[in-house]
Amino acid sequence: MYFGAAATLLLFIGGLEARYFGKEIGALSQLQHGVRGRVFAVDSRTLYLHDLHYDGEGPAAFFYVGTSKSPSATGAIRLRDERGGSGPLRRYRGEGITLSLPDGKSLKDVNWFSIWCDEYAINFGSVDIPRSLEYPKPAKVGGLRGVHGVSSDPVVVVDAQTLLVPNFSYDGEAPDAKFWVGRGDKPSPQGIRIPDENGKESPLRKYDKKTIVLTLPGELTVFDIGHFAVWCEEFTVNFGHIPLPRASLANVPPSLKMLGVSPQSKLNCEVLYDELAFEVRWAVAGDSIVMQLVAKLEDGEYMSFGPSGVETKTQMVGGDPTVAWVNMTTLKGNAEDYYLDAKSQCAGVRGSCPDWRLGGEKANSVRLLNAALVNGYSIVTYQRPLRAADFLDKPIFTNTSQAIIWALGPLNSKLEVSYHHHFTKGDKFIEFGRPPVWNCPMPEGEDEHRAPAHRDVPTRPPVEEQTAIIKPNPVPTPRPVPKVEPWDIPAIQCYEPPDGVFYAQMGPTGGKQGYSAITGHVGWGISWYINGLLIPEINVVRGKKYTFVVEGGTDPDVPAKYHPFYITNDPVGGYLHKTDAEKKSIEIYAGVRRARNGDLTPTGVGRLCNWTPDNNGPEADEFPSFGAYQRSLTLVCEEGNPGVVTWIPDKNTPDTVYYQCFTHRYLGWKINVLDECDATEAEESRVVETVALPADLMGEESIQ
Ligand SMILES: *[C@@H]1O[C@H](CO)[C@@H](O)[C@H](O)[C@H]1NC(C)=O
Ligand SMILES: *[C@@H]1O[C@H](CO)[C@@H](O)[C@H](O)[C@H]1NC(C)=O
Ligand SMILES: *[C@@H]1O[C@H](CO)[C@@H](O)[C@H](O)[C@H]1NC(C)=O
Repeated sequence: MYFGAAATLLLFIGGLEARYFGKEIGALSQLQHGVRGRVFAVDSRTLYLHDLHYDGEGPAAFFYVGTSKSPSATGAIRLRDERGGSGPLRRYRGEGITLSLPDGKSLKDVNWFSIWCDEYAINFGSVDIPRSLEYPKPAKVGGLRGVHGVSSDPVVVVDAQTLLVPNFSYDGEAPDAKFWVGRGDKPSPQGIRIPDENGKESPLRKYDKKTIVLTLPGELTVFDIGHFAVWCEEFTVNFGHIPLPRASLANVPPSLKMLGVSPQSKLNCEVLYDELAFEVRWAVAGDSIVMQLVAKLEDGEYMSFGPSGVETKTQMVGGDPTVAWVNMTTLKGNAEDYYLDAKSQCAGVRGSCPDWRLGGEKANSVRLLNAALVNGYSIVTYQRPLRAADFLDKPIFTNTSQAIIWALGPLNSKLEVSYHHHFTKGDKFIEFGRPPVWNCPMPEGEDEHRAPAHRDVPTRPPVEEQTAIIKPNPVPTPRPVPKVEPWDIPAIQCYEPPDGVFYAQMGPTGGKQGYSAITGHVGWGISWYINGLLIPEINVVRGKKYTFVVEGGTDPDVPAKYHPFYITNDPVGGYLHKTDAEKKSIEIYAGVRRARNGDLTPTGVGRLCNWTPDNNGPEADEFPSFGAYQRSLTLVCEEGNPGVVTWIPDKNTPDTVYYQCFTHRYLGWKINVLDECDATEAEESRVVETVALPADLMGEESIQ
């Protein structure tokens, strides 16, 4: 997220009847000069005026809010117009605009909004703001907790299209994890993926306690979805999700996009050093400021920016810069509070040192919010208080312009600043408290007229390209796997076992000679084991009764440990997640019960038994045969009873069917259905080396 990170984190500006603009306050009274329109509260200090009309003929009309009982000149606070201007109002012809209350004022502090003519002290049109107004606010929902190390602190729904996921972790090990949303309170393949914090849709990489901001694409809002998840798209596995209960989100702010406001119009940006595309973007948020530094840096270089040593001119010594960089190996961001005691490298407590070296742990006043490497640009977003938090800090003023310093250069071996190869020349001033102005090149596709995109500025795709409605993603075909000789895992012959009883349990996919080499597509780590064998082909005979003792887990609330067994003509499996159209062409031969309304419930449900690898042993890839690998596994069973599925294939059963997991795709393999079992041939094939089954499988251990 190139712009959005700063925009949404700071502005917190933000349900959908016709369109959602926030909490409606009321219609403007229509008193003079054709004033009319409807007024909405967007958040604590932002108003949205919908369909605003005013003829522009009044001599000195302005937007006002006030603390008196009704519109009057006393206690009135003049607002800047939607572009930050302070002149008399122009003509409005049915536009939608947002207005901000001044810093430190909220809608709770005022009683009315008016278009008021200063010259004649006349109200042209106004609306009362009730004391009881519940203006929209960001809402906190649950935190993520799941498999593959997925975790986060409680997620903040910043506005109707923006999720802030604090402290997000995920181990990055799964082949195809995505951020995922959809209807209902649990994820399913009918949901849609949402772009990651950098606007990308590629499989998620590893995250280690990172705070990220995600934006719902197109017109999609939190009111259209019921959950947010980390979801493995290829294998339809839920790695962790949170429900987004509609009731608790009813009063979140609308997003800027829903109000037709581009984030840049709410953000400041100044170019610091054009050649390396070094920019500072910022927004003041209450008593702190969020800054975003962007530059084209080499690995091992830093960018720094902050208040000058003195307010009236640019001076390094005494300055309070933040030194920031993105580690290009780990992609971790760094933002450190520095104090420039002298123009030299930090040595002891003298020189250009991180505050913590001078004043201890507590002296770091900078909080890293986000870091990203996008198309070769390092982007670091951080927050610091406006005031000087300790004796090593300089304040940031919102009432005046002040001198700043910046520098670019290499980090030394201690990851502290060494010399700088580029730095502030002459005096440079910034007015941090100004109405937002974007004095930087516009990114591609954002605004063609103002955008001589003279360099390759990375950005998110334009809004039009993104999808608006929830529709299922096409089911991705698993990637072909490069040819590796599979382990020789003998098929289960039609005469064995004589009693026709099979044990179906879970186990690992067995490295590159295992599941992926056998089936030709990537496994997600677990698969069915039948009689201790990794997805063996099973040969059965029509007319004979077979019993599958199923130990794949019973708790639907822990989907990663819930694998109902069934037999079907579908080579993919995961019936639960099929669309109605897909279901039409699928037959199920065993393992489900059909309710009167036609719904299918899986019956092959039992306690979980898992063939568990030895964590300290060799990798699966190192075993020369499946037999050797099998001997390194231990069967670990949970308490409880197994499930049982019985099946008699008949003349209507196709020659090839599959055993599968009802809730996940690609866990099972083939069953060959024969008319008769040729025992002679069978005797000969016995010569093939088979795997010795562990005793506990053959005995009573598994079935009660
Ligand atoms: C982030 O999460 C970890 C657990 O994963 C927790 O120990 C830590 O306190 C959290 N950090 C913050 C800043 O909340
Ligand atoms: C990046 O991280 C690696 C691994 O932690 C570390 O060795 C290296 O010094 C870091 N480099 C920078 C520039 O932060
Ligand atoms: C700006 O505000 C600070 C306090 O935050 C005050 O000390 C200073 O005098 C003000 N400066 C101007 C120019 O008003």
